Amino acid sequence: MDRIFYFSGSGKSKRLARFFSKELNIECFDITKTNDLDTETAIIVFPVYCQNLPEPVIDFFKRLKAEKVAFAATYGKKSYGNVIEDAVKISSGKFIGGVCVPCGHSFLSEEDDFDFKKLTPFIERIKNPKTAFPEKGRKDFYADFVPAQRTRIGVKIKKNDNCINCGKCSENCPMGAIENGTINKNCIRCLRCVSDCPEKALEFQTLWFMKAYLLAERKNETKFYL
Ligand SMILES: Cc1cc2nc3c(=O)[nH]c(=O)nc-3n(C[C@H](O)[C@H](O)[C@H](O)COP(=O)(O)O)c2cc1C
Ligand code: SF4
Ligand code: SF4
Repeated sequence: MDRIFYFSGSGKSKRLARFFSKELNIECFDITKTNDLDTETAIIVFPVYCQNLPEPVIDFFKRLKAEKVAFAATYGKKSYGNVIEDAVKISSGKFIGGVCVPCGHSFLSEEDDFDFKKLTPFIERIKNPKTAFPEKGRKDFYADFVPAQRTRIGVKIKKNDNCINCGKCSENCPMGAIENGTINKNCIRCLRCVSDCPEKALEFQTLWFMKAYLLAERKNETKFYL
């Protein structure tokens, strides 16, 4: 059986996974909520974090048992680093294709403005699988320098008076980094708690220097590895 798996903080990669699910008629699963990882072809959809793979995705790749793998990485029009090659290196299974897909940046509160029409070559490759070869991408020299800590300095999350201590954020956090709206140092700023809080009790703020960095030199390239 083939499956689509996704990791998503603010919902953009989830929307892309659902698009692939509809186009390919393959069921999709949230990697933080499924333990059934045996599959023939696994298509994994995830966001780029600091030009790297998000920690929950790295952990998932180590556990995944698939005969064939394909990757789709969403990125906020800044940089996708080397994530497809990184994903190929740590996952098992034959690599059949990858794509980095530009979309709105979660830290800039942008919409997921996917250009779905551009993704046809990737979808065709999944329908007609053959071995692909990942090409090495370009990463900035500082990308691997304490990425989560750098993000925590540039993006703040605050709880407001709407919190009713329902515990939903604690249940959903992929890092065990929040307890009824109070965040600890394990937070990777995926923003899932902000997006999913039923009371809108969590607000995030991207500080000016982070915004200035993110808005400078953006790119809108759909990069295929086929
Ligand atoms: C912690 C974090 C780090 C990010 N790092 C990058 C990055 O290095 N390059 C980039 O272009 N976008 C970056 N983004 C933006 C996301 O990759 C982009 O908005 C993605 O589509 C979010 O997907 P999601 O809604 O499924 O979480 C980052 C977002 C977050 C939350
Ligand atoms: S999900 Fe929202 S309302 Fe519920 S505990 Fe977390 S912050 Fe509070
Ligand atoms: S506490 Fe941090 S890691 Fe957990 S859901 Fe919220 S932003 Fe993501």
